Amino acid sequence: MNELIATGLTKRYGATRALSGLDIRLISGTVIGIAGPNGAGKSTLMRVLSGEERPDSGDLVLVRDGQATRDFKVAVVHQEPQVWPNLSVWKNLEVGREEEERASQNRGDAETEKILRLLSIDMFADFELVDLPLAVHQRVEIARAMLHKADVFLFDEPNSALTDEESKALFELMERLAQAGKIVILVTHRLNDLVSACSDVMILREGRIVAELRGDSALTEAAIAAQLTLTEHVATTTSAVGGTPKTPMKDQKVLLALKSCADAAGAFQNVDLDVRAGTVLVLAGVEGSGARELTQVIGQFRPANPGRTNGCATEYIAASRKHTVFSNMSVAENLAIRLGRDRMTTAAGTLSLAAINRLADNSVRRYTIKVGHHSNPVTSLSGGNQQKVVLGATLETNADIIVVEEPTRGVDISSKREIYALLKSYCRAGKAVVLFCTEVPEMYDVADEVVVLSRGSIAGRISMSEISNVSHLVEVIARFERKEAHAQIS
Ligand SMILES: Nc1ncnc2c1ncn2[C@@H]1O[C@H](COP(=O)(O)OP(=O)(O)OP(=O)(O)O)[C@@H](O)[C@H]1O
Ligand SMILES: [Mg+2]
Repeated sequence: MNELIATGLTKRYGATRALSGLDIRLISGTVIGIAGPNGAGKSTLMRVLSGEERPDSGDLVLVRDGQATRDFKVAVVHQEPQVWPNLSVWKNLEVGREEEERASQNRGDAETEKILRLLSIDMFADFELVDLPLAVHQRVEIARAMLHKADVFLFDEPNSALTDEESKALFELMERLAQAGKIVILVTHRLNDLVSACSDVMILREGRIVAELRGDSALTEAAIAAQLTLTEHVATTTSAVGGTPKTPMKDQKVLLALKSCADAAGAFQNVDLDVRAGTVLVLAGVEGSGARELTQVIGQFRPANPGRTNGCATEYIAASRKHTVFSNMSVAENLAIRLGRDRMTTAAGTLSLAAINRLADNSVRRYTIKVGHHSNPVTSLSGGNQQKVVLGATLETNADIIVVEEPTRGVDISSKREIYALLKSYCRAGKAVVLFCTEVPEMYDVADEVVVLSRGSIAGRISMSEISNVSHLVEVIARFERKEAHAQIS
């Protein structure tokens, strides 16, 4: 058994205490979960554990086979994959291991190949990452972590772009690493993942461990949720969500109509789809079904035939924060950047700092963004708060259709509810929202309508007024997916 012991870790950023005298003991053998609301200090803790950042004070020791050492290796799978898009999968895994490769070329290759097979990405080995979906990028990160033969493995929301099946495979893999004596840590906002992947979950709040849930009876989704919503935040959230009526679908103005639409790269064919005012439309389907690509086509982020011809204003938010956040700019600038000249300039046509400040002040309040001051760099915000900045900036545009891939990626459970409420109320003003979601509970909470894609075609359309609960929705989606698969085989 190995053990990682941190004592009295503190880390400040200006006035913010990201870690505030944190003590933690992490033991190998099982996967350990770390959960906490947005801004709790999870990513900071991961950066300190991995040595990416030095704590202001505190100590970190690994006890390996009974010997205490400060010299140990940590591998990280980041929330936003840190990969080289212009290199192949293979080359990505070679970076940083060139010496090792040269020393034992064949062995290194065989090992890499084994790991690629284990993660089912061996068929992509020679492809450049830029041509591959986010799910593969994440698995490349995981492969790299495994290749590094580290003592400690940190997984920061590693499966947010993976299907249920892929996630399950990943969790089994993590479990195997833990049993092989590695310290394995999973940071995630998904309660069901914490319960199914971990046997020990630590709750982090305001830079400190405030609770530990262990064993089947203590470690339940309800118990974690209760711990996470103990913040002052919740009072504002629950009221925001209450009493949203399901909009009736008929007679709503059609904002966008796709006719026999085909993805230019072949991800889907022959799609007829109306996007109606007043509707949150969710496109559902596993990776490869065409749902993600159809979302991108509606967001005008991806070409299709025939292309989109009508002129309704559309704003699109990509899945990866790398494509949505201007990381060299402040929070205020990120909030203003999607808006046109008419809103952000003075009568003389120069940039109006007053207008930007006003917008930023209002948006920080309206979208409950946790930030010291809006002039701070956007990268100083926690992941969930960056997502709120992007969403707020987009909602402020007042576009006819807002298209979002994975709207609550990396967002804590109370902020999720806020985001659903914001999207719904946006629709009530005669607009439409189109989402690609990977989690059925999310679809259930936010959608008026779910369109299921399977193998590049629309397999079914579900009006949420006919759905009674999450399992009912799971069942109906699965039925459509099976039917489509069957139709294609026969
Ligand atoms: N580089 C930085 N500069 C300034 N402040 C920072 C920086 N990194 C983190 N912080 C602040 O430290 C606090 C903890 O942030 P952290 O990113 O660790 O939270 P988190 O638990 O990972 O949140 P999330 O769930 O949203 O990802 C936040 O208030 C954040 O704004
Ligand atoms: Mg984080």
